[in-house]
Amino acid sequence: MIIFYSSEKLKNHLNSVLSGQKTIGFAPTMGALHQGHVSLVAAAKKLCDVVVCSIFVNPTQFNDLSDLDKYPRTLEADKALLVSAGCDILFAPEINEIYSAEELELKRQHKEDKSWMLGKNVDFGLLDKVMEGAHRPGHFNGVAQVVSKLFRIVEPHKAFFGQKDFQQLSVIRSMVKQLEMPLEIVACPIVREADGLAMSSRNTRLSVEERKNVTKISGTLFSVKEEYKNKPVSELIQQVEDLFKNDPCMTLEYFDIVDSSSIQTIDSFGSAKSAVACIAVKLESVRLIDNIVLF
Ligand code: PAJ
Repeated sequence: MIIFYSSEKLKNHLNSVLSGQKTIGFAPTMGALHQGHVSLVAAAKKLCDVVVCSIFVNPTQFNDLSDLDKYPRTLEADKALLVSAGCDILFAPEINEIYSAEELELKRQHKEDKSWMLGKNVDFGLLDKVMEGAHRPGHFNGVAQVVSKLFRIVEPHKAFFGQKDFQQLSVIRSMVKQLEMPLEIVACPIVREADGLAMSSRNTRLSVEERKNVTKISGTLFSVKEEYKNKPVSELIQQVEDLFKNDPCMTLEYFDIVDSSSIQTIDSFGSAKSAVACIAVKLESVRLIDNIVLF
């Protein structure tokens, strides 16, 4: 695996060595890699000639600065995992490779930077107004900002994203369409621990006690999947809210059942074309999200 820290050197390498002959698959990450990330590399290997993975803990998508500080950084272990997964190129830029001083200043002033739109008026409509968008102000603007920059550096033919971040996938698909970027977004299924917990870099921050309790999150989603054919949407939502009401270990931020394209709450299972149950839970040490496709 070749490692690049400079965008310029990576670009030159991709342009000269590949000289447009090979397809590039790209999996952007923030590191602290696990089997969920490895599954993206594996999918990219199947569909593309060259696989590029990036590791960059992107400050502009963190609305909670203590979450940014505490985000696990495990570059040496990540490199080893990527080598064993068969990744060809790792891009691990320093912050100045990605952001100008002006852009970082805007972040310091908590101002939303739209310069990544490059003169276009990218508008996510209602996609970034609900769930993660509603609970993490500025989060999706930061995600779109960094992903658009990474796409311009790597210029992949296909980019791989996990369904673990269901709403992020929709936002990125919308961004690619609006910026008319010539690439395909490939969605990869959620990889879970043996007990059902969705793999996440943030899981390493759970205490022993919390780790035991968090199986309730995926367990709740699995029950919803079993029950949705016999209960209306509103009853299921109420049921999950009640389930977490007096939980001493975790607070439910939201539970919603949404259409997979519009990301808006569905009225009824009968009239919906698709349905995904999405959940966000806050524990003392960390905030976790998960989802399950119902149909
Ligand atoms: P990160 O949380 O590191 O996730 C990188 C990619 O791995 C995302 O596409 C995410 O959905 C996927 N992923 C994470 N856990 C997964 C799991 N259990 N199963 C399958 N896929 C999983 O998402 C980000 O980073 C950032 O927002 C990023 C897109 C890199 C922009 O900074």
